[in-house]
Amino acid sequence: MRLFSSLCLLLLACLGLVSCRSAVGNRVLVILEDESQKSLYSKFWADLKAREFEVSFESPRNELLSLFRHGQLAYEHLLLTPPKSKGYGPSLTPKILLDYVNAGGNVLLGLSSESGTPAAISSLLLEFDISLSPDKHSVVVDHFNHDAISAADKHDVLLVERPPQLRPDVVNFFGGDGILAIPKAVGQTLGPASPLIAPILKAPKTAYAYNPKEDAESVEDPFATGSQLDLISALQARNSARFTVLGSLEMLQDKWFDASVKLPGGKTSKTVNQEFAKQLTEWTFQEVGVLKVFSVQHYEITTSSKPAENTTQIGEYNPAMYRIKNDVNFSLEIGQYDRTHYVPFVVPDTDALQLEFTMLSPFHRLPLIPSSTTSNSTIYSATFTTPDQHGIFAFKVNYKRPFLTPIEERHEVTVRHFAHDEWPRSWAITGAWPWLAGLWSVIAGFLFFVILWLYCEPPKEEAARRRKLSVSVSK
Ligand SMILES: *[C@@H]1O[C@H](CO)[C@@H](O)[C@H](O)[C@H]1NC(C)=O
Ligand SMILES: *[C@@H]1O[C@H](CO)[C@@H](O)[C@H](O)[C@H]1NC(C)=O
Ligand SMILES: *[C@@H]1O[C@H](CO)[C@@H](O)[C@H](O)[C@H]1NC(C)=O
Repeated sequence: MRLFSSLCLLLLACLGLVSCRSAVGNRVLVILEDESQKSLYSKFWADLKAREFEVSFESPRNELLSLFRHGQLAYEHLLLTPPKSKGYGPSLTPKILLDYVNAGGNVLLGLSSESGTPAAISSLLLEFDISLSPDKHSVVVDHFNHDAISAADKHDVLLVERPPQLRPDVVNFFGGDGILAIPKAVGQTLGPASPLIAPILKAPKTAYAYNPKEDAESVEDPFATGSQLDLISALQARNSARFTVLGSLEMLQDKWFDASVKLPGGKTSKTVNQEFAKQLTEWTFQEVGVLKVFSVQHYEITTSSKPAENTTQIGEYNPAMYRIKNDVNFSLEIGQYDRTHYVPFVVPDTDALQLEFTMLSPFHRLPLIPSSTTSNSTIYSATFTTPDQHGIFAFKVNYKRPFLTPIEERHEVTVRHFAHDEWPRSWAITGAWPWLAGLWSVIAGFLFFVILWLYCEPPKEEAARRRKLSVSVSK
């Protein structure tokens, strides 16, 4: 009986592993200083647990806390809540957090203007090109788009339309209808330079950040205004680890999940924070938007030159060498992780997945066209002729879009010259016929002349001997 029950447990554990929702793993560590805060987010934890995440809670003051175990990630996902004290302590220094992201860990960083942001975190974000207001306690307010029920005086509970389902060429994991309540947000601005960061939710045009604890005059020179301010932004590292900066952790509290809110002078509506929280964690914890290259294949196509046997033949797969002017088929199999398994990845019509055949600079840049689909992936392929240039070339696919795992494939091949016996024979080239005719006519003329000469010249000694003979006979 005990054996049976333990077998059942094992089976359940296996099932749990199999049905994991994230592409990388299901262990979430929540850094929470104040245990009493936990109950404020009960719906949020329940949502995570319903998606088969194992949620553990730790205090940043726990000295045994470590994000790594035996050099591996101890948790695939980390949720940081704003600390009460100056920082997260020695086990969560910015250096350790960076190592964690470099090792592929995903981070959801919740901020709050009430407790302020520790300087160490601001400087970590600055390394990602995300800047926070230098004023620790600044909060985003909006006198036109705030909740008139809960923040009638302070105007610090922003009501923001959820980003609409954007243009079809932009992948949008956060879109939908409805209004989000963003209480006491810390605004961020993103640097222009980094292609790795992207805004998820921008502040309304009339919003600005200021410090309520200072005099009203200081609002003269706000840190940032309007849509310069981001309320939620995201960084996707090159290893596809995700780091989301959530300006207002409070928006995940139960009371905002379906609160009734009212725009000044508008009608009341329900917030959609719960659904948005789900979208946000789905993306951050790599349940969506994860692309994977299952296989890369290239081969030579030879078409028989004789029209009678119009057959094409396929060379060996992924050879290390091609010849100049070979016809080559390149194909790439891509799947997109969608919550429980991989599904075919479809590139939007207005976007293109491109193949480059490069040596220093691209000789070919071709669109990859979907040629077939399997249950888990789409196969994109392109056919081209190798350029008339020998050397070391590479097939390159470089597809980087915001919120999608970057695809960077590079496969080197050698392109050689024709071998001596691969050139077309001289008589196959019509342009060479006059020269060939000249050559053979000289040879033929020479032979003819030699034969003629040998045949027609009378042997002189013979004639002289005969003359002598006839003279002696007549004597
Ligand atoms: C050549 O191709 C055509 C069209 O694909 C086909 O109808 C024909 O039978 C082929 N000829 C030979 C000799 O294979
Ligand atoms: C290239 O190869 C892929 C996979 O083998 C195939 O689906 C596709 O049709 C080929 N393309 C051409 C133009 O032959
Ligand atoms: C491939 O797709 C099937 C059915 O859609 C699914 O059951 C399976 O888990 C998928 N495989 C992977 C590796 O995602």
